[in-house]
Amino acid sequence: MDSNDAKTLDHKLVAHKGFYLINEIHDPDDVDQICNLEIRDSDTFVVTYPKSGTIWMQQILLMLKAKGDVTAISELSNLSNAEVIPWIELRGNREAFISAPTPRQRVTHLQYQFLPPALSQKIGKVIYVARNPKDVLVSYFHFHKIANMLETPKSFEDFFEKFLRGEVFGSSWFEHIKTWYSHKDEMNMLFITYEEMIKDLKSAVEKISLFLGQKLTDEQLANVVKHSTFNNMKRIPQASYEQVPEDLLSHHLGTFMRKGTIGDWKNHLTVAQSERFDEVFLREMKDFPFLFSWDIEDFK
Ligand code: A3P
Repeated sequence: MDSNDAKTLDHKLVAHKGFYLINEIHDPDDVDQICNLEIRDSDTFVVTYPKSGTIWMQQILLMLKAKGDVTAISELSNLSNAEVIPWIELRGNREAFISAPTPRQRVTHLQYQFLPPALSQKIGKVIYVARNPKDVLVSYFHFHKIANMLETPKSFEDFFEKFLRGEVFGSSWFEHIKTWYSHKDEMNMLFITYEEMIKDLKSAVEKISLFLGQKLTDEQLANVVKHSTFNNMKRIPQASYEQVPEDLLSHHLGTFMRKGTIGDWKNHLTVAQSERFDEVFLREMKDFPFLFSWDIEDFK
């Protein structure tokens, strides 16, 4: 993408320092101030490219904090998970972060360059959730159909091309993961994949609780896992984004908690599209020291 920011794709996306933001949802000047935030050791940032399981990690972190007691989030509070662990880049949220009590937990889709450099001095913690990009593409396509702050795709083919060009909020999936990953060793970072969470949620939750230094009993951990499964999250309005106002998400057109699996891309991409995607993936990711899982069958 042209980094001179001259390019604004449509009225919904605005290029800012080589990264597409969403008009009205993000304020570029405010986003620029995020790197000046003072970070505490107890802060945690969940970093994701959109549609990689952000909502899932929000639920896991909240359940860990509640030691597996689901009533703590479902009955005692009307706040949605996205209000308790909000996006740092949304308008107004940076200010709120400054005065929020410890421990502060936030999610972000931003690129590395916008986050405070203190993270690269091992202050605070980062959890990067990665997902295979063909499933991200498909999930993002469906999300664009319900998200009113984003352009409704003209067709799957059109969206496929835009995604490969990085002309979406979050910009290039390839750049996002490669840049963050390249700074992994400078940070207190847990790099975890959506696919390993699908494969073995219990081990993933144990890994996350260890990383955050949260000690839970086996029974408490089992409850965290139980209330973080796809089917159970769907039943919790705070966790499933059902409460997001209709002016932001057209709930009658689809749900945020859509399929929750690996390999749905096979139902969307043609053989030619899949081969083209593979070519780009191989070129972009040739030096990336990590293998992705592309099929739920890999785990059976
Ligand atoms: P699908 O659209 O493929 O179903 P994000 O929160 O980053 O936008 O990611 C949303 C994706 O994560 C959606 O993918 C959603 O269904 C999936 N997801 C959320 N919670 C999940 C869970 N507990 N198990 C599996 N997938 C989950």
